[in-house]
Amino acid sequence: VRFWAVVPAAGVGRRVGAPIPKQYLPLFGQAVLDHSLEVLLGESRIEGVVVAVDPHDQRWSTTRYAAHPKVRKVAGGAERCHSVLNALALLTQTAAAEDWVLVHDAARPCLRQTDLAAMIDTLRADPVGGILAVPVCDTMKQADRQGCIARTVVRDGLWHAFTPQMFRLGPLREALARALADGYLVTDEASGLEYIGQTPRLVEGHADNIKITRPEDLPLAEFYLRQQGR
Ligand code: CTP
Ligand code: MG
Repeated sequence: VRFWAVVPAAGVGRRVGAPIPKQYLPLFGQAVLDHSLEVLLGESRIEGVVVAVDPHDQRWSTTRYAAHPKVRKVAGGAERCHSVLNALALLTQTAAAEDWVLVHDAARPCLRQTDLAAMIDTLRADPVGGILAVPVCDTMKQADRQGCIARTVVRDGLWHAFTPQMFRLGPLREALARALADGYLVTDEASGLEYIGQTPRLVEGHADNIKITRPEDLPLAEFYLRQQGR
């Protein structure tokens, strides 16, 4: 059984609102995407990485790992799950159905090498797979239509779903395709597996594995990278 990675990098970064997609913004002189790929390529058990980029993208070919022998490019789709499915389709040409695939957002540059390794160690004997996640520490509120608090959600047992999300190629592809065909738009891989009745495992990671989503996440990511000595 082998390990592969898929990196969805075909978004526009509307919420960051920069002139270019956030995965190409510089963090300490290299693109956000390069930091994310550096960690995946730094894990020797990962055989290859498929990056999904916008079909009209002009920037990918200029990035640090575009010509890396372990890296392949594929066209992204309208939603994140389409981008992931396109990458999985390419992987089926070389990977086996029982091989593990780690899907990691291009926009999560602060993933720790040690969290990635620990996740593989924890899940490699698991029948289903799972995700890196962190317990929620704020009190959670459900809003009503007027923007008032309808109720307080019981925080116990609530987790933030991060990436990588690690599943076997065959079941992952089937789960995402089935959810999509049924009109259920999944925002992560685990929800696809949940949709077909599986129970993915939660692997506790570090909270600095943030997804760059809003403008204020960029300086925060730089802070975390510096703190990690990268
Ligand atoms: N992504 C993708 N294909 C899409 C949409 C998103 O590959 N059609 C990728 C993004 O590039 C990002 C990851 O999925 O690495 C997480 O998505 P998100 O944070 O939502 O990024 P964007 O969609 O680019 O941001 P926004 O929603 O603010 O526009
Ligand atoms: Mg998005």
